[in-house]
Amino acid sequence: MTNSTERTDTPLIDAFGRQITYVRVSVTDRCDLRCNYCMPEKMRFLPRKDLLTLEELEQLIMTFIGRGARRVRLTGGEPLVRKGIDTLIARLGEQVASGALEEITLTTNGTQLARHARSLAQAGIKRLNVSLDTLDPHKFHEITRRDALLDVLRGIDAAQAEGIRIKLNTVALKDVNEDELPDMIAWAHGRGHDMTLIEIMPMGAVDADRYDQYLPLSQVRNNLEKHWTLQPLSMRTGGPARYVEVEETGGRLGFITPLTQNFCDGCNRVRLTCTGQLYMCLGQEDRCDLRAVLREQGPEAIASALDKAIAQKPKGHDFTIRRQSQKPAVPRTMSATGG
Ligand code: 5AD
Ligand code: SF4
Repeated sequence: MTNSTERTDTPLIDAFGRQITYVRVSVTDRCDLRCNYCMPEKMRFLPRKDLLTLEELEQLIMTFIGRGARRVRLTGGEPLVRKGIDTLIARLGEQVASGALEEITLTTNGTQLARHARSLAQAGIKRLNVSLDTLDPHKFHEITRRDALLDVLRGIDAAQAEGIRIKLNTVALKDVNEDELPDMIAWAHGRGHDMTLIEIMPMGAVDADRYDQYLPLSQVRNNLEKHWTLQPLSMRTGGPARYVEVEETGGRLGFITPLTQNFCDGCNRVRLTCTGQLYMCLGQEDRCDLRAVLREQGPEAIASALDKAIAQKPKGHDFTIRRQSQKPAVPRTMSATGG
């Protein structure tokens, strides 16, 4: 494997002057849960031959690092169900140790976390995002169609015991976890976890009608402010979240509101799917097939393909949710694109 990080080529800067310093990589479209807003029960996963091998993933990530990417987040699907993922994470951890990369993080559903916590910590992972929409076992089953809440809670404990900071990602779901959100926030903050609330996004075909699940975070925030004092924080992570500190708990709470607030101006990121498609924007179809470039033209062709792709990064997304808008705004699911 070539190690291209010794050479720092020109940084990746798009037509709007935004430098790409953050890459999200979906390492698999597979998942051991079936969250009803994310995928149908009978999800058809991609043929294995379409997936990038771990070596190809590593090669592409190294190229991004060589071009100035400072942070890498692995997502899925569920990244921890991919065989051999610990090895890739350890290799990326070496890049952090050498200073080539600032940070490597993971977004996980937590079901397999207990078994991986030690090796993640050893690879130098300091922070994890764990997706968790409820603390109620019945609701957990209702949302994810699986009984795995205890595994997730064990996973969170194991990671915390290894010194890894946890941020919970919670999708706000009308009539499902709406009433529970204040308790969840108090629970998370009481245990030293940050929490981010996410508004549902129209991605991929699912069984449920997402309009019925849509709960505007502006409304959630108004409700929270009846009980709590929310102090806006100026910190931005380069991502779409806006943060407040809940004075009463001392914890941090983020809001990701793709539908009610546009967050694209400061976007520093691109997304690589598990099949090697590079998406310049979560909400747009523009993409570059890096797998084809890699497999058909070889690694030398990646640099110029990247330049071309980044130059086309769109200014912003245009998500909307309309009742009975039959088609999702983007046809691919979050599990294939990687959140
Ligand atoms: N809308 C909003 N959030 C979603 N996620 C998955 N699908 C959707 C969707 N359609 C969330 C997961 C996880 C994060 C990676 O994205 O629950 O927290
Ligand atoms: Fe799996 Fe995450 Fe999709 Fe749930 S939201 S099915 S945990 S990929």
